[in-house]
Amino acid sequence: MSGELAVAPAAAALRGRLTVPGDKSIAHRALLFAALATGRTRIAGLPNGHDVRSTRQCLEQLGVDIRDLEDAVIVAGRAGTFAQPDAALDCGNSGTTMRLLAGILATKDLDVTLDGDASLRKRPMRRIATPLTSMGAAIELDEGSHAPIRVRGSSRLRGFRYELPVNSAQVKGALIFAALGAEGTTVLSGALRSRDHSERMLPTFGGSIVASDGTLSIDGGQHLHAPRGTLTIPGDLSSAAYWIAAATIVPHSRVEIANVGLNPTRLGFIDVLRRIGGAITLVPHAASAEPIGSIVAEYAPLRATIVEGDAVPDLIDELPLLAIVASFAEGTTHVRGAEELRYKESDRIEAIVRGGRAIGMQIEAFADGFAVTGPASLRGATIDAMGDHRIAMAFAIAGLGTPEPIAISGADSVAISYPEFFSTLDTLRG
Ligand code: S3P
Repeated sequence: MSGELAVAPAAAALRGRLTVPGDKSIAHRALLFAALATGRTRIAGLPNGHDVRSTRQCLEQLGVDIRDLEDAVIVAGRAGTFAQPDAALDCGNSGTTMRLLAGILATKDLDVTLDGDASLRKRPMRRIATPLTSMGAAIELDEGSHAPIRVRGSSRLRGFRYELPVNSAQVKGALIFAALGAEGTTVLSGALRSRDHSERMLPTFGGSIVASDGTLSIDGGQHLHAPRGTLTIPGDLSSAAYWIAAATIVPHSRVEIANVGLNPTRLGFIDVLRRIGGAITLVPHAASAEPIGSIVAEYAPLRATIVEGDAVPDLIDELPLLAIVASFAEGTTHVRGAEELRYKESDRIEAIVRGGRAIGMQIEAFADGFAVTGPASLRGATIDAMGDHRIAMAFAIAGLGTPEPIAISGADSVAISYPEFFSTLDTLRG
């Protein structure tokens, strides 16, 4: 993606109350479960970003009817049956779309190719192909491990026992979807520490999953049905994180974000910010399947910390932003055990180190993370977002705290998850 945009330093405190688009991870899953279910599901708060649109369009190619109302969409579930598409499904930039759909298609007697943009074609797909093949699906990858992926599924897929080698909600989610349509029980173990939106949403559609002793068990052949009323997607904490960071680094700021998802598997960024001195208050509301609440973030002086191991999955998407925030903290912040960053929409370690050095950050790269020393004397520069929405937004927040503007090449990539990002930034500046 191209499109250059300059972010000028914040001339004054950021103050305001805002909302953020619906949670991308929850939205993908709501559309997918609704498509699989019997009956019509009404979903409110679906975000406008390209990734969720990719999931919607792929489902439409599979014959799912999705209608827009003024304040919601209605998905006409196909009770587990999809139409054979006449072309490859385009997952765009969205790894979640590709991996979760591969899990679903593994259970269908169809022959479907899943493809994506240049970034998605570089991301590792063997991690889903290996277990889905063990269950009995025929999966072909390009050059051994990449998209396009051809999935020839089977309605006789077999449930299995599988130890996940990597903490990934996309892999875990793909296998949950595959297990639901398989014969027999699937037991997942191993690296299960990742966001749990699939597990939480399944009962809303009448399904069940049992968590015990570090395993997840899913019975095959489950019939899902549309929930009564409206499934409302909470605001995306990963989008709110940018404003939390902005308020934290710009003196005298105070920003309140309403109606945000506060799922514990997503709270890592807030936990780390609080630990390093961040002034963040959570005000939970009545909980449904997903906890929701308001977040108030205020300016605060920060000190360095270490983030590693099991803590990493809970803030995996916020680590580029944490690198920026760490430049405003006293001392050296270490992030280790985050090799997964190299397999995201870009190699995020490379992207943050390259852009960071251009703006004067003191940052060192490791195979599995980085170290940032602050407070740094940052300067204006042009950075390359490498087509990655989270890199573009992280450097936009840096631009608020540098003495000169930061120009972001590839700023339009924010549309992947947060098309309204720059207009919200303007609103916050007042
Ligand atoms: C996602 C899971 C995460 C995250 C991604 C969305 C999901 O990836 O980085 O943005 O919706 O399942 P992992 O597969 O590494 O957990």
